[in-house]
Amino acid sequence: MKKKLIAGNWKMNGSLASNEALLRAVLDGMAQQAPACDVAVAAPAPYLAQVQALTAGSSLAVAAQDVSAHEAGAYTGEVSAAMLKEFSVRYVLVGHSERRQYHHENDSLVAIKAQRALAAGITPIVCLGETMQEREAGLTEAVVKRQLAAVIHLNGHCISEIVVAYEPVWAIGTGLTATPEQAQEVHAVLRSQLAAATEQPDRIRLLYGGSMNAGNAAALLAQPDIDGGLIGGASLKAPDFLQIIASVK
Ligand code: PGA
Repeated sequence: MKKKLIAGNWKMNGSLASNEALLRAVLDGMAQQAPACDVAVAAPAPYLAQVQALTAGSSLAVAAQDVSAHEAGAYTGEVSAAMLKEFSVRYVLVGHSERRQYHHENDSLVAIKAQRALAAGITPIVCLGETMQEREAGLTEAVVKRQLAAVIHLNGHCISEIVVAYEPVWAIGTGLTATPEQAQEVHAVLRSQLAAATEQPDRIRLLYGGSMNAGNAAALLAQPDIDGGLIGGASLKAPDFLQIIASVK
């Protein structure tokens, strides 16, 4: 059976000192109680070397928050998949709603980023989700299907290698969580869309993200198509992150 995945997304937070304290506390907790799931943390790019060094030999995987759509060359400020690979990066977020919203990333760019990651042997965590306005207009299913379709279109041959994170935009950093039923409903839609693209749709982990915390994680993770979580705010506090990890049975 596939293991669930709990991934922390630190976003643009941290410092050498605070990262070290946080990682040591998370690693300590994981040593005391071995997780029943895979665990990763997505750190800002300048800290990947630090996270690589502190997690070496542990089961805590290194993740990155973004990757360039280009392979190499004159792209000032960009970080390539090959560079991430050198820092033992196992997962990379692509298409996070903050990238889509503030950096104008569209579906086809996100699909190319997923392709670059896959080509470098890094698992893309493809983030998608609707805004509140789209949900209220009854467009949730159409929006998430369109976002996933672009990734399937370009990466169909290795689609079973991706991870998908359903993150309703209205739930991110707002304290408003989708109910387990709302999340499951969308996850079921995504699973059936993947079933049309691969014979092994159940191999693909579908994470939920958006104000997941120590209090609501167990109920969300109990849903049949929720295979883990992408955790923002709560991943910055070791006790909360550890409690979410421990809620995976
Ligand atoms: P949040 O963020 O848990 O703080 O809502 C989730 C995310 O953006 O990945």
